[in-house]
Amino acid sequence: MKLTIKSIDINGNGIAYYKKKVVFVKGALPGEIVDVDLEIEKENYYQASIKSIIKKSNSRVKPKCDIYSKCGGCSLMHLVYGEQLKYKSDRVKEAFSKYASISPKVNKTIGMELPYNYRNKVQLVVKKLKNKVVLGLYEEGSHFVTEMDNCLIQDKAINNSLVEIKNLLNNIKLDISSKGLHKIMIRTNKENEQQITLITGKKMKLDYLVNRLSELKNVTGIFSIINNKKSGNLYDCKSIKLFGKSRLIKKISSKSYYVRPLDFFQLNDIQTEKLYNYIKKLAGDSKRIVDCYAGVGSIGQYVYSGQDLRGIEIVESAVESAKDNCKLNKIDAEYVVGSVGQVLKRWAKSGYRPDLMIFDPPRIGLDKDSINTILKVKPKSVIYVSCNPSTLAKDINLLKQKYKIESVQPFDMFPQTSHVETVVRLQRQNP
Ligand SMILES: C[S@@+](CC[C@H](N)C(=O)[O-])C[C@H]1O[C@@H](n2cnc3c(N)ncnc32)[C@H](O)[C@@H]1O
Repeated sequence: MKLTIKSIDINGNGIAYYKKKVVFVKGALPGEIVDVDLEIEKENYYQASIKSIIKKSNSRVKPKCDIYSKCGGCSLMHLVYGEQLKYKSDRVKEAFSKYASISPKVNKTIGMELPYNYRNKVQLVVKKLKNKVVLGLYEEGSHFVTEMDNCLIQDKAINNSLVEIKNLLNNIKLDISSKGLHKIMIRTNKENEQQITLITGKKMKLDYLVNRLSELKNVTGIFSIINNKKSGNLYDCKSIKLFGKSRLIKKISSKSYYVRPLDFFQLNDIQTEKLYNYIKKLAGDSKRIVDCYAGVGSIGQYVYSGQDLRGIEIVESAVESAKDNCKLNKIDAEYVVGSVGQVLKRWAKSGYRPDLMIFDPPRIGLDKDSINTILKVKPKSVIYVSCNPSTLAKDINLLKQKYKIESVQPFDMFPQTSHVETVVRLQRQNP
């Protein structure tokens, strides 16, 4: 069946229409005419795959990656980079129009000069397939692992280590299964130091593996995490140090940050520096700042120049790191473990009145308590850093009664994927 592609959806799929229903076509671009197979029919939509491209878009490029169509890690590698950036600004505009009924000016997305090999942390599945150990990602919607030896968006040093780790695992006896070793996480910094974390389903004897891993170039710390839950969510797990340094130091411009395995840290160091410089400019001369969803305290400490600074973060080890980072960056700030909504509400009751609130929530956006506290405390400005345009727009829809948008700036933290990071500065409308 022939379809004409009208646009791209939030996951990077082409959108067409058939019998008044949306058809999502993986890998298709706007303006293209494609011959497709309808694969799935749901009440409101179809999913289709391309059999052949009848009319090709001028923006189509040959993906540099051999396993692009299988892997599922990237979704826009077939679109020329300049158009990826345009797509990201358009996504933000559409979200504001759809969820907040407003059309603010959205700046051009700030991209990378070389949009590859940026990912400084990976978490890969370890699986035994026909007696051979493989490391990779689950294919989209399946439990089939796509092996990756040279991922083009991962840091090159991580790629090298993964090949060595795989060879090592193929030459030792170890329980590799959902109950045994099932995931490996590697995080690196600009100095190429590597923090390796072994995720197992039970307590295991890992001495031999750890000794061999410690001999690999640049490995500075090895950890284990036991996760015997069905979900891969590690928030409530503990990491145990098995070798080397207990923290990795990440440097962003003149600031340094200790990071432990379970702490959040931005995935793209080059873009993080641009993002943080931009936020620092937006913060202006605010005197009392609260950094909500603070992680290891990175944004607040980057912006700091003697202000009254507080931070809130739910992961205990990240707050420990944030406190250590105060010493490292010679900063006087207060960090608390807790949920942003609840802590803000408590502080507001005790009379705390910041003039700038910075929010950098996970994809689900802000909770009710946070929104209500902003509207009650009415800080002069709010900087909202978001990795999800839909929840960003929904939250701003609730804040727009008291705040006006001053600027909207998307950043490309994840080239070749459909993700976009957006920074919005809100200014209180009436004193
Ligand atoms: C997108 S990250 C931002 C971290 C940090 N601002 C940065 O730039 O590195 C979101 C952070 O919010 C934390 N978090 C998630 N839900 C939370 C909640 N309800 N209250 C406080 N922190 C939360 C996560 O642990 C994570 O560190």
